[in-house]
Amino acid sequence: MSLAVCPGSFDPVTLGHVDVVRRAAGMFDEVVVAVAHNSAKSPLLSADVRMRLVWDAVAGIPGVSVVATDGLLADFLRQVGAVAVVKGLRGAADVDAEVAMALMNRHLSGVETVFVAGDSALAHIASSLVKDVARHGGPIDDLVPAGVGDAVRSALRARAEAGPEGSGR
Ligand code: PNS
Repeated sequence: MSLAVCPGSFDPVTLGHVDVVRRAAGMFDEVVVAVAHNSAKSPLLSADVRMRLVWDAVAGIPGVSVVATDGLLADFLRQVGAVAVVKGLRGAADVDAEVAMALMNRHLSGVETVFVAGDSALAHIASSLVKDVARHGGPIDDLVPAGVGDAVRSALRARAEAGPEGSGR
């Protein structure tokens, strides 16, 4: 049985993420989506909300489960017996950062990263852009799975009400 991990911070999960998970599920017997912490980012959505939104988004894809992890991805890969990490590439701009992570994860765990080209119709979608569009009152519902737009707008409202202290990215 082959098990792959699709890791990400999913802040929030987008249609691009779901496309990559679907492609991974077509290649491996089992796929675990790992909702992880990226120390370079300060998430808008709590880990619980990100986890729930990812579950809702991938619920219909056979063989896929979702797990939250706040440790080192390499440790998680060993724990679950992953044979691969699957990441999506939208274009050249993704390559440097993704290859650096792939090399580090292989160094730490021996697990290879498989890159898939996502659907070109979704190549403009990034969680950071989705949040920025929403922050400026733009439409995001056609960029994200059902329910995600409302969660993002509500988190942005809560941040705005919390004032400058709660207004980090
Ligand atoms: O969606 P992102 O933010 O690009 O995903 C990055 C993520 C969360 C997969 C990465 O930051 C990660 O693996 N975090 C867990 C901690 C870790 O293992 N860091 C070293 C990564 S090589």
